[in-house]
Amino acid sequence: MAGKIPPEFIDQLLARLDVVDIVGRRVPLQRAGHEFKARCPFHDEKTPSFYVSPAKQFYHCFGCGAHGTAIGFLMEYEGLGFRDAVEELAAEVGLELPREIAFEQGPDLRPLYQTLERAAAWYRDQLKRHPAASRARDYLRQRGLSNEVIESFGIGFAPPGWRNLLEAVGEEARLLEAGLLSKKEGRAYDRFRDRIIFPIRDGRGRVVAFGGRVLGDETPKYLNSPETGVFHKGRELYGLYEARRALKGIDRLLVVEGYMDVVALAQFGIRNAVATLGTATTSDHLRKLFRAAPEVVFCFDGDRAGRKAAWKALEAALPMLRDGRQARFLFLPEGEDPDTQVRKEGPDAFRRRLAQAVPLSDFLFEQLADGVDTATLDGRARLVALVRPHVEKLPAGVFRRMMEQRLAELAGTRLELKRPTEEAGQRRGRRLPGRPGTLKPLHRAIALLLQYPELARLDDLPDGWRAMEGRGVEVLQRLLEMCRRNPNMTTAILVEHWSDDAMRHHLARLAATPLEVRGDQAEQFRGCLEKLAREARRARARAAGGKLRPSDLTEEEKAALRRLYSDKR
Ligand code: UTP
Ligand code: MN
Repeated sequence: MAGKIPPEFIDQLLARLDVVDIVGRRVPLQRAGHEFKARCPFHDEKTPSFYVSPAKQFYHCFGCGAHGTAIGFLMEYEGLGFRDAVEELAAEVGLELPREIAFEQGPDLRPLYQTLERAAAWYRDQLKRHPAASRARDYLRQRGLSNEVIESFGIGFAPPGWRNLLEAVGEEARLLEAGLLSKKEGRAYDRFRDRIIFPIRDGRGRVVAFGGRVLGDETPKYLNSPETGVFHKGRELYGLYEARRALKGIDRLLVVEGYMDVVALAQFGIRNAVATLGTATTSDHLRKLFRAAPEVVFCFDGDRAGRKAAWKALEAALPMLRDGRQARFLFLPEGEDPDTQVRKEGPDAFRRRLAQAVPLSDFLFEQLADGVDTATLDGRARLVALVRPHVEKLPAGVFRRMMEQRLAELAGTRLELKRPTEEAGQRRGRRLPGRPGTLKPLHRAIALLLQYPELARLDDLPDGWRAMEGRGVEVLQRLLEMCRRNPNMTTAILVEHWSDDAMRHHLARLAATPLEVRGDQAEQFRGCLEKLAREARRARARAAGGKLRPSDLTEEEKAALRRLYSDKR
């Protein structure tokens, strides 16, 4: 994705919105002194340890360590990327995205979204009103769907005929761009005709494409929108938006194959199912899935094709299985899909099946051991060779160590494996912040300033530290400047101002680190800067090859030296 959002825009956005509002709209907050508290939406708890500070514009959970700004909250809570979260917040407070981003991003897609939305509304309306729609309504009823489910998925009907949508919505060029028309010999006609319509929504609930099913046995059974400027079928998951909206915090997502599987499960109260759109599970899918829930269960047919699809999903999942995440596999009896199965046995039995889904590790060993005789030395060696590259794909963590151990047991010896790589795009703000005593003076100074921006306006702050070099010192200088320029500076703005993801992540951690200052933060801040200044002087002295001069020492150090000498005498 091209184009960084300018930091000034982020500053402006954060100055405009209130994190208490943003969080409060999604999680019920209670007042607690100067702050607000709630039961943490990111982990299970009975008593609230999730705090939102209006002064800092920052939230922090003392239970699981989740922390961040309004932007970080939206990313985590709604599973959005940074840019999407910023866009959504900008829309919420009515701030226009800067023009240069719109341009850098390529064409303005808003008209396309509008057209898709209008088409979706029209299809929904046709299901209610079109003279030919009674067959469609009968079909949906016969498949067991209630009006409530039909509405919550926005299911509609494309009537028979070649130019219904075109004439109703007009805008031929846009409908073409949206993939809703086809063209033959220069003449445009409706792509979806006489089909049940399933709108596909993106993470923010915008309609990006449609799937259409015939009412009978004609082929193709399903027709999907083509790839467009806003639809890439290897990225979208049907039902994810609906699952998020129906559930409060998703602890497990179920990946199925078909639209009807998602909808039928929802009909039976199982609202956490999503479907890929006729494609294999991609890494993009998995990133979305794990952003939304810590556990993913893949549900496939028990036949050969199902196992093959499951294996593909396993391979895509391996690099993402860091601690706290889990993937399992559910194979249904031959000839069944989730829709037929849940109808046959009911939701409770289906849930029991889910609970018994096969852990990824078992599926991996079972699948690779197929056809290998592990009773023989040769067979075991072969299996080790087969398993090893898969274990090497796992990120560092307990799960990887357990898999390595299982592999070592199989091999009868410890193996030297390729070192794990740190997985990119770590979930924001999830690692617990450092303990107060362990921060270095530079980090401590930054943490203090982030948490108490007013410190920047103290008189006579030590200056010697500015002579030091390094990224950290530059950051400290920049933060001080920002605080001096803006008397209403908040923690949130200081954290989100940086265009570098790693930097924002790092600063958010420091902003959430408890400092235990009890009112003497000014003293502490001076102390940190003083220490840094001393380090700078020492570095200079070392560089000059000279010895320490008395002026390089603080009073405290001089006193310590004097004590040392008097002891020796
Ligand atoms: P299935 O054929 O398993 O569909 O295809 P299903 O969900 O069980 O359909 P019903 O129950 O007969 O209504 C699974 C998925 O594969 C894609 C669709 O995304 C479908 O949901 N598919 C299938 C197509 O894109 N085109 C087709 O012709 C068939
Ligand atoms: Mn089916």
